[in-house]
Amino acid sequence: MKITIIGTGYVGLVTGACFADLGNIVYCVDSDRGKIDSLKKGKITIYEPGLEEMVRQNMEEGRIYFSTNIKSSVKKSDMVFICVGTPSREGGEPDLLALENVSREIAKNINNYKLIVEKSTVPVETGQWVKRTISAFSASGGKDRKAKFDIACNPEFLREGTAIKDFMHPDRVVIGVESERAKNILLDLYKPLSAPIVVTDIKSAEIIKHASNSFLAMKISFINAISVICEKVGADIKEVARGIGLDKRIGREFLNAGLGFGGSCFPKDIAAFIHMAEKAGYRFDLLREVRNINENQKDIIIEKISKAIWNIPGKTIGVLGLSFKPDTDDIRNAPPMDIIKRLIEQGAKIKAYDPKAMKKARKVFKKGITYCKDIYSAAKGSDCLVVLTDWNEFKEIDFKRLKKLLKQPVIVDGRNIYDPYRVKKLGFTYTGIGRRA
Ligand code: UGA
Repeated sequence: MKITIIGTGYVGLVTGACFADLGNIVYCVDSDRGKIDSLKKGKITIYEPGLEEMVRQNMEEGRIYFSTNIKSSVKKSDMVFICVGTPSREGGEPDLLALENVSREIAKNINNYKLIVEKSTVPVETGQWVKRTISAFSASGGKDRKAKFDIACNPEFLREGTAIKDFMHPDRVVIGVESERAKNILLDLYKPLSAPIVVTDIKSAEIIKHASNSFLAMKISFINAISVICEKVGADIKEVARGIGLDKRIGREFLNAGLGFGGSCFPKDIAAFIHMAEKAGYRFDLLREVRNINENQKDIIIEKISKAIWNIPGKTIGVLGLSFKPDTDDIRNAPPMDIIKRLIEQGAKIKAYDPKAMKKARKVFKKGITYCKDIYSAAKGSDCLVVLTDWNEFKEIDFKRLKKLLKQPVIVDGRNIYDPYRVKKLGFTYTGIGRRA
């Protein structure tokens, strides 16, 4: 199939590369010329394991192309995937301007039947807006007024860091359609993945995306709330999470207590879902509380740091991790970035190390922070070591060496990656999240 992907952000690029890898011809379009120029050279601005190699290979084999020309790409394609950004406005409402502009552009270039698929995470009824916009603008501006099109919604469930694996081996594929023709095209496209496919209407597909992310965020806030109780009564959150997670109805995943969720998806999607539900007449207090609990985890960490080293002003704090989670350099809405900001504001000096995210963090924090070459240089001369992202590299640490380098042997483990007993036995003062004292 010939596919245009509009928007070469995270979702667009991974989707485009994977569709190309499955044998389709893919035209990736973006209005950002700089980005397209570097993509044409096979250079990718985000860090995602395996993505650059996949893009390069498919470029060499003539299956993926990059351009700023929406017109010629749409004309050549059978399907158009809309993968543009939907940033949050104040109050949580998503900004759908880019989506509207793209819909108009598509409309003007419909020369024969096209299936137009929304992949951007959007509020329910956006599909209908896209449809109305395309109908209106193709009628007024398109050369072939009778050219037909269908709209579909095909939400993505990719996680940063494992996006290619998630695309190629999905738990399920969701397609929201309103015609047999659209359904069959999408079934055909996803056939090579041999995954369960949920076929539904467009509005239900839109809700599935919101509800999935909200449910996962709810699991994280739930376990974080339980971790607070564990700490108060002397129980251990890791054992509790295992004990409840082995129940198949609950599942062990997304029950890791810590700093809470961040990134470009959960915080934005939750705000959008709360807003959307309220617009539809339902006050979503459950999700509001999920968000409150999440925010509170950051206060808890700051409190733990100040308890561990007494006064924050003037202290040097070694920080491990800047990205919102491991295996990515993404620092958008990253809890570590929030925590560092607050520590700097309170007068601490930060010595930070992250395997991938330092380049991006350098643009945000310039003063009050030293970027270090590894774990041990971040620890050297610091009053305590704080773990903010659960990179694998941090798990295999040489504690003896660490103890010699730190001014005081203090570890605040915001991701529960260490065994409290082992660390304490080695002479450290250790505090995790909801661990048995
Ligand atoms: C999330 C969803 O998992 C994807 O299915 C979805 O497609 C994507 O959002 C999206 O809407 O685009 P992602 O943001 O890449 O993916 O990251 P997750 O792996 O879901 O982690 C989100 C946050 O939750 C991270 O900050 C992570 O550290 C935190 N988390 C996760 C926990 O604090 N505890 C856990 O047990 C799991």
